[in-house]
This record gives sequence, C-alpha cells and structure tokens, in this order.
Amino acid sequence: MNETILEARNLIKKFGDLTAVNDVNLAIQKGEVFGLLGPNGAGKTTIISMITGLLKPTSGQITVDGLDLQTEPYAVKAKLGLVPQELALYPTLSARDNLAFFGSIYGLGGKQLQERVDAMLAMVELTERANEAVETYSGGMKRRVNIAAGLLHQPKVLFLDEPTVGVDPQSRNAIFEAVEALNRAGMTVIYTTHYMEEAQRLCHRVAIIDEGQIIALDTPSTLISSLGGGILVLGLEDPEAGAGLGKVQTVVDRVMELPAVKSMTRDDGHVKIETHRFQEALMGILDITNQLDVRITSMEKWEPNLESVFLHMTGKKLRE
Ligand SMILES: Nc1ncnc2c1ncn2[C@@H]1O[C@H](COP(=O)(O)OP(=O)(O)OP(=O)(O)O)[C@@H](O)[C@H]1O
Ligand SMILES: [Mg+2]
Repeated sequence: MNETILEARNLIKKFGDLTAVNDVNLAIQKGEVFGLLGPNGAGKTTIISMITGLLKPTSGQITVDGLDLQTEPYAVKAKLGLVPQELALYPTLSARDNLAFFGSIYGLGGKQLQERVDAMLAMVELTERANEAVETYSGGMKRRVNIAAGLLHQPKVLFLDEPTVGVDPQSRNAIFEAVEALNRAGMTVIYTTHYMEEAQRLCHRVAIIDEGQIIALDTPSTLISSLGGGILVLGLEDPEAGAGLGKVQTVVDRVMELPAVKSMTRDDGHVKIETHRFQEALMGILDITNQLDVRITSMEKWEPNLESVFLHMTGKKLRE
C-alpha cells in the first residue's frame, strides 16, 4: 500500500556559517499527514522552502511523484501547494479577488477559475464573507484565505507552515477540520508546528527537528511509548481502613523503594506514581499490592506526550 510521493535526500542548507538544515532525509507516503515538529529556528521553514522550490539547497536531492525538482522544477511545483508562514494577501482586495488573482498565476481562468475559487472558499468556510476586503478579516480568517490559495491548482501535496500561529480558536478548528477533510479526500499534507497537541491530533507521523536535524521520526504514539516511563494512577482499597495509617501507607512506602519508580503522591483513595521504567515499576507494584492483599480498584496510565519526548531527547522545551 505504501507509496512514496515525496522524497528528500541528504538535504543541507547553509546560510554563511550557520547550517540551518543538516542532512535531512524524508520519505513522505501518499495520503499521510506528516508533521515537522520543532522549536523556533529548528529549520522547519527552511526545509519546506527547499522542497517547494523557493530556496536552493546547498546540497541534496528532492523528488516528487518520481520527478526531480532540480531538472523539472515547473512540473514538480505544479504538484505542490504551499501555505506560507508569512501571510501573502492583498489587504484591500476581497478574499474572492485575492483567490482569483492567485488562481490566474497558476494558469487558471474563466469558469474553471470561478469554480475553484467558490469551492475553496466553501472549504475554508468563508463563503459568507468572501466579498469583503481581506483587511477587515481576523488573523485566522486571513490564514484560511491563504490555505484556500494554496489549494486552487489542486496540488497533490499541501504544505502548511505553522497555520495556527496567531489564530483565534474558531479559525483554528476550521483549519483542523479542513486539513482532516482534505486528507480524507486523499491529500498528502506536510504540517509544521511547535504545538505538540496539533501534531498529536493531526499527524500520522512526525519528524522532530532540532538544530536542523531530524532527531526522531515515527508515529506520535511510538515516539511517546519509546520514552519508557509514564505515570500510573491507581485506586487502592485499604482492607484496614480506619486502623491507623492502614496498609495503603505500607504499599506507598515499599513502592517508593522500587528503583523503577521516580516519585509518588497520595490523595484519598488514589496514588499517582511517576516511573522511570513503566513496565518494571508496574510489575513491582503489583507484587507489593498482592503481598499486602491491597485491592486495586482502578488503574490508569497517563500517556507521556511529544513535549516530553522532545524534552527527553534534547533537554529543552519545545516552547519557552
Ligand atoms: N534567509 C536566511 N538567512 C540567514 N539565516 C536564515 C535565513 N532563513 C533562516 N535562517 C536561519 O536558519 C535557522 C532555521 O530557520 P527556520 O526559519 O527554518 O526555522 P523554523 O523551524 O521555521 O522556526 P520558526 O518555528 O520560528 O518558524 C534559523 O537559525 C534562522 O535564523
Ligand atoms: Mg518557520
């Protein structure tokens, strides 16, 4: 089933002494939503700019649908739609006129152009305001016009560069839903963000980028489970409730001594256990509760998230 639609090999970009992108390799599968997740300055926009032909790589190779960007730039660019991080719209023109203008750049005209403009306005839920000047729009609405612009020529791969930065919650949702709908219809999407919740919600696979390099690449859930540790919340029923500290306290004391356990807190009926190594901690905890005959009434694992993956791998936070 897997079919590679876009491939970047040994991509490098230097700006003077700075290596902004340092030997990046990507193979994007047809139909996937692929995330580039990394902090400010990680190199996300530089990677996208090279793949979409806006910026010449220092070295490396890019192919889209089997075509080489360097030898067939126009054919490749026709397959790609870019929604840039910086907005590019004419503020005094309406959304409809902006889109008609961008469509004409792509070589669309006449009835076909009108139909594409109408369809894309509807998709980003801007039909009602389509004839008003873009300068009267909110940040999120402008962003949605930009998304519509990137889709006019029916690209095979859509690049969205931090599409939700500075966007109101309503537009944010409209953007998520548009991405999900496009993907259901078969669109391959490359999505950059430094919001790990977005990457987790939208992306089938994520490349975590730091200082120009891919430091991890996998599905969000695999990346997260590779952390090993996790948080376990247990409900415990004390057979000696009311008698002094009870058996649960003994459980707590002994669990704290397990090498796989990092820390532990207790409140009525529940203990929260932070682990170094989840599996090992869990086995040890079950041993202790069995020995002491304390019944487990509930068990919940708190998933660590991509933020923790990044923190774990780099010692830094994705966002300050
Ligand atoms: N035209 C340029 N000239 C010189 N340096 C540049 C240029 N463009 C980007 N850089 C540098 O390359 C590095 C990567 O920048 P890039 O814009 O790709 O990061 P990013 O991951 O998109 O960050 P953000 O999340 O802030 O958008 C940064 O250190 C940036 O300052
Ligand atoms: Mg950027």
